[in-house]
Amino acid sequence: MIEIKDITKTYGSGEMALQALKGVSFTINDGEFVAIMGPSGSGKSTLMHILGCLDIPTSGTYFLDGKDVSKMEDDELAEIRKDKIGFVFQSFNLLPRTTVLRNVMLPLIYAGVDEENREERASTSLLAAGLTKTHFSHLSNELSGGQIQRVAIARALVNDPSLILADEPTGNLDSKTGEIVLSTFQELNEKQGCTVVLITHEQHVAAHARRIITLRDGVILSDHRNRPGQTT
Ligand SMILES: Nc1ncnc2c1ncn2[C@@H]1O[C@H](COP(=O)(O)OP(=O)(O)O)[C@@H](O)[C@H]1O
Ligand SMILES: [Mg+2]
Repeated sequence: MIEIKDITKTYGSGEMALQALKGVSFTINDGEFVAIMGPSGSGKSTLMHILGCLDIPTSGTYFLDGKDVSKMEDDELAEIRKDKIGFVFQSFNLLPRTTVLRNVMLPLIYAGVDEENREERASTSLLAAGLTKTHFSHLSNELSGGQIQRVAIARALVNDPSLILADEPTGNLDSKTGEIVLSTFQELNEKQGCTVVLITHEQHVAAHARRIITLRDGVILSDHRNRPGQTT
């Protein structure tokens, strides 16, 4: 599914140039659950932006489902995102004073899905993210942190993405709520076959994945299998 080769990313130019990624290569197959781990500033978010087709690398190639996306224009990248990718961020980006159901339907409005289908697909993904029907009419600003993140997951799922990218999805949650959100990702991976790439600076969060790639200063330090539930 994902094949990146010698990816570099440089911000700025000349004296101010900062190389956030210095040649990163890996392959992620369909159905994997991978954590990308590393301390703050190691290039995780930069890498996620590239994997998520939100940005292109300075050099190197990125094949997503066999297509070279590393040199695409913005409008082509937007199409790929709409078709294939669901995002979950640390800052949840839900619309306040808007119902749970409507928040999740929003991406479908942009995608041009008709109203009847929108509602049905939004409720399916809300249920898959572990919410119940009673939550659907709640306003997003009336929810707890854990519920909000589940809505954010449901919203990421609603366009039926083959790839879910989550950047520090438990960063704003207490550890117990974080665990529940992480087990939601595990379920989506195991039961629905979603490919999940989870970005984190915390070992205990990465431990939920079946493979852990560690970044340090823009390069891969290690890439190994993990048995979920175990802290290595
Ligand atoms: N838009 C940007 N412009 C300039 N420098 C950036 C930008 N985004 C990130 N950086 C720098 O790139 C490096 C990697 O950042 P980032 O990918 O956000 O790391 P992480 O997510 O692991 O904390 C850091 O030194 C950061 O300051
Ligand atoms: Mg980051």
